[in-house]
This record gives sequence, structure tokens and C-alpha cells, in this order.
Amino acid sequence: MTSVEDTREQAGNTPSERETVARRLLDSSETLSYDPAREVDWETALDTDHHGTSPEWSTLYGTAYWAELTEAQRRELTRQEAASVASTGIWFEMILQQMVLRDFYAKDPTDPAFQWALTEIADECRHSIMFARGAAKLRAPAYRPRRAVVELGRLFKTVATGEAAYAAILVAEEVLDVMQRDWMRDERVAPFVRTINNIHVVEESRHMKFAREETLERLRGVSRVRKQGIALVVSIAAYFIVTSMVSREVYANAGLDTRRAVREARANEHYKSMLRSSCAGLMEFLDSAGLLTAAATRVYKRANLI
Ligand SMILES: [Fe+2]
Ligand SMILES: [Fe+2]
Repeated sequence: MTSVEDTREQAGNTPSERETVARRLLDSSETLSYDPAREVDWETALDTDHHGTSPEWSTLYGTAYWAELTEAQRRELTRQEAASVASTGIWFEMILQQMVLRDFYAKDPTDPAFQWALTEIADECRHSIMFARGAAKLRAPAYRPRRAVVELGRLFKTVATGEAAYAAILVAEEVLDVMQRDWMRDERVAPFVRTINNIHVVEESRHMKFAREETLERLRGVSRVRKQGIALVVSIAAYFIVTSMVSREVYANAGLDTRRAVREARANEHYKSMLRSSCAGLMEFLDSAGLLTAAATRVYKRANLI
């Protein structure tokens, strides 16, 4: 990130700077992209000796309830939680694809950024299929955000303008990134889940680069008042994305008492601190972009991101 920004500062914000970044992303995508249909082991039966996420990332890890669970129950819980995160990922990737497609509607197709945007949409399309197959292999039902959140997402993807869209995309991608980096390296996690996370981490690092660039680009020259509004909208989007990641239905599907699990998960300081530490870099970026206003900070605090 620094090198590109440094260059931009030296050269002034010429369109060719943006082109350079987009071209680099296109090249990188040509060199290193995956076909999940071939790379992921879909054939081997699920081995229930494995977790779905690193146990430390479970919403119940560290609670009294967790201490009472057998190892097998803990593994079933993290497998359902992993499926829920993947399903919420699909929900968000569908929002994201539509926002990017809308943003580039009728723009110049010879612009590398245009071609990159379509490449990113194609990546997300493969990711969503991969997440769908992954959740099915984890023997999970369809996990979706609450109805009201689904409708808010529908509204957001229809009306969000570039600045808010790319910042929200960045938030979702960054939060997922830190978790998936942990899971892809963790030998306790099912091998096919690790492969899925690995593919996602590699391809998303380019998306995050683009989202950072676009966020800064679109915020240039935006008035202070408007920026305040954007910052708040982005934080609210982040709140709903993060609080929708693990569905409350995972507990029943893992054979647990939903009420008790939800209560203890909500009060779980360990989980909250995992979220906070994973968002440190993101918050630094939002701050540097002027999007960490007092109002937005309050929302991020409620979402345990700060
Ligand atoms: Fe993705
Ligand atoms: Fe992405």
C-alpha cells in the first residue's frame, strides 16, 4: 500500500496512477488465481475429527458453556460456525458484485480498472460457489442474516455510491481476511476448509488493495459533512456484516441450547478481543482516510471492532 501511495503523492493523482494499480492487479490475477472446482478436495468424505475454524475463533471459546462441551461437540460447533461465516460471505459477495457492476456500468472498457472490476466480480462469483459447496460439505443448512438485515443489504446495494461501497467492501474483506489466515494455517481445521480459506486469502488480497485505492480515490475532494455521513453509513454496514457472521441457528444445529449459547456468546470477552485485534490495521486505514469519526467509532465499538 505504502509504495503506491508514495508514488501517487510524488506524481500527483494522475489517471495513469490508477491504471498502473489496476494493471498490476490484472497481471497478478493472471499469474495466481484458483479454480476451486479443481483445487478443493470435494470428494473425500468429511472427517469429523476436524474443526471448521480455529477453536479460539469460536463464539463460545473461553465461556463456561465451552468448558462443558465434549471435544466432538466443540468440533461440530466450529464446523457450523465456519459454514455460517461462509454463508454470510456469500450474502455479502452478492451485494458486492452488484455494487461493483453498478459502479462500472457503461464506463470505459479499455480502462484497466474496468477490466479489473470484472475480474473481481468473476473471483467473487467463484468464491460464492466455493463457499456454498463448502457449507454443504460441512453438513450445514442455509444460514442467512436476519430478515431485516437482508432487506437493509438490499437497500444498501441499490443506493450506495462509490465511496461508501468500496469502504464497506474493504471492511467486510478485512475482517474475514484475518480469521481465514488463522484457519488456513491451523492443522486442527479440516483440510478442505483450509484450502478454501487459502484460495480466498490469496485472491482477496488483491480485492482489498483495489478497495483501499478506490476508497481513497473517491473520497478525494468530498466535503467534510458528506464524509461524516459516509463514515457513519460504512460503520453501520460493518456492524451488520460482523454481527451477522455467526447465525444464532448454529447452536441448535450443533446440538446446543440456543438461549444459553447466545447469552454466553454475547458476553464473551475473548471473542470480542479476537475481533478487535483483527481489525487494528483496518481501523488505522479508516482513520487515515478520515472515516473514523466520533459517530462511526461508537458504532465500531458496539460491533466490538475497536
Ligand atoms: Fe471473495
Ligand atoms: Fe473480495
